[in-house]
Parts: sequence; C-alpha cells; structure tokens
Amino acid sequence: MKRARIAALAAFALLALVPAASAPVLDRARSGPCVDDPKVMRRVHMDLLLHGRDETVLRGVRDPRHDLAGCVDCHANKADGKVIGTASHFCQGCHAYAAVKLDCFECHSSHARDALRTARREPAESGK
Ligand code: HEC
Ligand code: HEC
Ligand code: HEC
Repeated sequence: MKRARIAALAAFALLALVPAASAPVLDRARSGPCVDDPKVMRRVHMDLLLHGRDETVLRGVRDPRHDLAGCVDCHANKADGKVIGTASHFCQGCHAYAAVKLDCFECHSSHARDALRTARREPAESGK
C-alpha cells in the first residue's frame, strides 16, 4: 500500500517533469516590452483578453493595452506575420501544447497589421 503510493507519487513527479523538457519553442516578440511582466502574462493573459472582450462588446469600453490586435502585432512571426499556423507560432504553439482551445481567430485577424510600424515603433501618423 505504502509502496504503491510512493511509486504513484514518483510517476507523477516524473510526468510533471516531461512537459518542461518538451515545452514548445515559440516565436520571439517583434518588439517590447509586453503589456505586463511576461511571467504574469503567462498566467493572466486570458483574463485580460476575455475581460476586454466582455467590456467592449457589452459595455463599449476599450482598453488599448489589452487590444487583441496589439498582441498580434507584437507576437506575430517575423516571416509570415502570424500568431497561428505552426507549433512555433506564438498563440497556437503554446495553446496546442497546453491543449487549450483558441477560437478567437475565427473572427479576429491572426495577422499583424503593419509589420514595419511595429518593428520600428513608428507613430501611426508618420505615413509610410
Ligand atoms: C510591445 C510588444 C508586445 C505587446 C503589445 C504584447 N506583448 Fe506579450 N510579450 C512581449 C515580449 C517582448 C515578451 C517576452 C517574450 C518574448 O520576447 O517573446 C512577451 C511575453 C508574453 C507572454 C509570455 C510568453 C511565455 O513564453 O511565457 C504572453 C502569454 C504574452 N506576452 C501575451 C500577450 C498578450 C495576450 C498581449 C495582448 C494583450 C501581449 N502579449 C502584448 C511583447 C509584447
Ligand atoms: C506560454 C503559453 C501561452 C501563450 C504564448 C499563449 N497562451 Fe493563451 N492560454 C495558455 C493557457 C495554459 C491557457 C489556459 C489557462 C487556464 O485555463 O487556466 C490559456 C488561455 C487563453 C485564453 C482563454 C481560453 C478560454 O476559452 O478560456 C485565451 C482567450 C487565450 N489564452 C488567448 C491567447 C492569445 C490570443 C495568445 C497569443 C497572443 C495566447 N493566448 C498565447 C497559454 C498560452
Ligand atoms: C464570433 C466572432 C468573434 C469571436 C469568435 C471572438 N470575438 Fe472578440 N470581438 C468580436 C467583435 C465583433 C468585437 C467588437 C468589435 C471590435 O472591437 O473589433 C470583439 C472585440 C474583442 C476585443 C476588444 C477589441 C479588440 O479588438 O481587442 C477583445 C480583446 C476580444 N474581442 C478578444 C477575443 C478573444 C480573446 C477571443 C477568443 C476567446 C475572441 N475575441 C473571439 C468578435 C469575436
């Protein structure tokens, strides 16, 4: 009984180690910093986004810091400008790995709006 329990605990500890070893390598952001500490973002980004959606759709409030398109601008792949597509694309890569469904991009663009502006951090008014 006791031995079986120790074996079960050991197996569990081993399982817990596996994901860390095979965590996906995600595309690096095009610029920064993030809207909050990345360690915090890892835990709370869903609340920011889901809350932002509710506020916008139900009450007409818009917080540009939590604009989904802004996330996409920064986190898009440098070559194809997207956050979904492969296991290394920022949003899809981690979500596929974590097995969390991500249906936002059925409506919202998964493509960065203006790669050059984001990369150089030029103000929107500066034309081309
Ligand atoms: C100005 C650019 C910028 C914007 C805008 C931005 N981020 Fe980030 N984000 C970063 C940088 C830089 C990091 C650190 C990791 C890296 O370099 O890719 C990061 C990290 C993260 C992480 C942690 C990734 C990990 O591997 O642990 C998450 C999650 C995240 N961002 C989600 C978001 C979401 C959601 C939004 C929109 C609300 C957003 N970010 C907006 C630049 C940005
Ligand atoms: C470092 C890993 C990681 C990255 C990168 C990441 N996510 Fe997540 N995301 C998660 C995890 C894990 C959850 C589920 C957390 C939970 O349920 O407690 C989640 C949950 C969410 C949710 C809530 C889903 C729901 O239906 O409840 C949304 C929305 C979301 N992420 C959007 C995004 C977007 C958009 C991006 C890209 C800008 C992104 N995530 C990047 C790991 C990540
Ligand atoms: C059925 C279509 C649809 C789906 C699916 C959807 N949205 Fe939205 N979303 C909208 C519409 C419409 C608006 C309001 C118009 C606007 O601001 O672009 C909106 C607004 C938002 C906003 C505030 C404005 C902005 O662009 O940032 C956020 C944040 C947001 N949605 C996040 C999400 C997230 C996260 C998901 C996935 C969990 C999601 N949405 C899925 C249609 C959708």
